[in-house]
Amino acid sequence: MIIFDKTHNLFKIHTQNTTYAMQIVHGKYVAHLYYGTRKDDVGDFTLQRTSFAPYYPDEEENISLDWLQTELSFFGGNDLKDTAVRIRNANGDSASFFRYQTYRIFKGRVEFDDMPYSRGGEETLELSYVDEVSGCVLYSYYTVFPNSDTITRYLRFENQGDVPVKIERALSCQLDLPAGDYISITLCGAYFNERHLTETPVHVGLQGIYSMRGHSSHQFNPFLAVKSAQTTEYAGDAYAMEFVYSGDFTAQMEKTFEGKVRMLMGLNKDTFAWNLGAGETFTTPEVILTYSADGTNALSQNLHAHIREYIMPKPFAFSPRPIVLNTWEAMNFTINETNVLAYAQHAKELGMDAVVVDDGWFGERCHDDRSLGDWQANTRKFPDGLRAFAEKVHALGLKVGFWIEPEMISENSHLYRSHPEWALRCKDREPSRGRMQLVLDLTNDNAVETVVKNLVETFKDVPIDYIKWDFNRSLAETGSLNLPPEKQCEVKHRFVLGSYKMHKLLTQAFPNVLFEGCTGGGGRFDAGILFYCPQIWTSDNTDPVERLEIQKGTAFAYPLSAISAHVSNSKFNEIEDGLDYAFRFNVAAEGILGYEMDVTRLSLENTERLKAHIQTYKRIQPLLLEGDAYRLEDMQKGEYGVCVVSKDKKRFVAFYRNVNGRQREYLTLKGLNAAYVYHGENGETYDGKTAMQTGVALQGKYAMVEGRVK
Ligand code: DGJ
Repeated sequence: MIIFDKTHNLFKIHTQNTTYAMQIVHGKYVAHLYYGTRKDDVGDFTLQRTSFAPYYPDEEENISLDWLQTELSFFGGNDLKDTAVRIRNANGDSASFFRYQTYRIFKGRVEFDDMPYSRGGEETLELSYVDEVSGCVLYSYYTVFPNSDTITRYLRFENQGDVPVKIERALSCQLDLPAGDYISITLCGAYFNERHLTETPVHVGLQGIYSMRGHSSHQFNPFLAVKSAQTTEYAGDAYAMEFVYSGDFTAQMEKTFEGKVRMLMGLNKDTFAWNLGAGETFTTPEVILTYSADGTNALSQNLHAHIREYIMPKPFAFSPRPIVLNTWEAMNFTINETNVLAYAQHAKELGMDAVVVDDGWFGERCHDDRSLGDWQANTRKFPDGLRAFAEKVHALGLKVGFWIEPEMISENSHLYRSHPEWALRCKDREPSRGRMQLVLDLTNDNAVETVVKNLVETFKDVPIDYIKWDFNRSLAETGSLNLPPEKQCEVKHRFVLGSYKMHKLLTQAFPNVLFEGCTGGGGRFDAGILFYCPQIWTSDNTDPVERLEIQKGTAFAYPLSAISAHVSNSKFNEIEDGLDYAFRFNVAAEGILGYEMDVTRLSLENTERLKAHIQTYKRIQPLLLEGDAYRLEDMQKGEYGVCVVSKDKKRFVAFYRNVNGRQREYLTLKGLNAAYVYHGENGETYDGKTAMQTGVALQGKYAMVEGRVK
């Protein structure tokens, strides 16, 4: 619910449990007043005057924007902290004064045509600001999603002046927090080691994370949370921002000496700029903002709910996901119809749902130095064509999927030989290679549409059920031979828009196909990709011990149903006995389970083990898709525990793993109904209250505990 209180010039945005409030000051400035637990009396703005701050002379009272917590900060005025917005005027200076102009409250939201966004939304508040000298108008949007306690934010620029301006910075979301001791939470990592949960005290000065790699990156995820120093998993204030975007970003905090903190998130402030001619508009991508008074677990639950309800494509978000056998780890480029069908036969016997033909089915692709761009089946590997192959897989009672990497181009490809100018590169400079490949210039509509057309042509008569969409290198020299010099500064963002166009066209062409995102493991695990692909390959690292940390960090910001996790017996840790399979299963079963291994060589004993695991997973998957995740407290370093509880609290599954050698006898569960008695699969009973106070008895280093009310 959004309310404008005319008497106090106050806006209040209420969600189920939170209130966000701002106030118009002197008719020109918009002060941020409050973000916290839901309440009506949010007080009045305060000025924290400091000496030496330049101010605007005013009839009512001189004001420096440096003294206010604001809703929007712009460069070139008297807010001398780091700002959300900067424009370069036609006269060369970068001065601006975005004065509050007017507001509008309307039902629903404005849907984006060219970018992902949160579908739905109850109501939207639009605030407009004008810079009178340049004629540039800035609209700031707040859409409220009451059930998930989230608000989405973005900006739209409109040049109503007569001359062009250049937008040099356009960060979608600002949150000015009151003075306090805060800790930041970010997801940091590397290829093979993505999204480790990282807590750091917020210190005086500027700090943050970013990507300049052309994708959201393995290194830093476009997620930023800040909590009060005393906040725990289940008590205290916590705030989070999550970017619905898959390219370069900035997420930062600035703490003043007085202790106030400004959080900002949006397009990367160094690699983004945009020319805005007279009469033109520019819209930034969206940020999801949330607050919890009940600690960081509720913060994660808000984001999980928001992503499942409003970001993931509706037909897939809560529908059963297939347990796939993926060919990559075991077969690499050696795939062909015969060996994949043999795998498929075994996958069926084990109870799996689909076989996914990973890299290597197209062009001359028997090595990673070639054929990206030539999206036609390799007829030596699939002599009867993909359709006949897919029908044979279907005849076994399995679904079928294929791997693609449409945003890339190999120099050794027909596509490149006909269109060398379709590779992203800076004029007269040698482009860097990554995995021996170049990147397709997605700022060029012809390139985008041709690749989409070729893929549609290849798959249009093939009964496919699943596509794994990969992206195997970062961008380096980001020039485009397709754009004039003055637009080279727009390449990074235009590239992402081109990628979204590809995602849109391909998902529309195959509306019943489940798309899985992937970026050389988990280098593009973000809410932008989740808008098209309800699940994302989390990491190329399938070592179960190392996966624990990766999945823990990922699940902090994204729902378990987004986390694609496979049991493998790949090179990382040789599986020696069935116990290891059980451990690998325990870790992978927390997300969307799949397998990557030579299933034709399983012992009888392991075949039975895998069959049992798969049946167990089929039973618990609905909980992972719809339930609420509660991280278990009292976990020491090297211990991982989560309890997933159905909305009606009548079912739960808890996962526990210990890689630190600790002997734990009881596991204290979370989120159950204390009044219920739950029954396990093997005759156990768990009293809800006891399970949450004393815990359930535990043996061994890992466990999966299930319970349901009969
Ligand atoms: C990187 C992915 O993360 C892998 O799963 C696999 O699909 C390879 N690319 C194929 O080239």
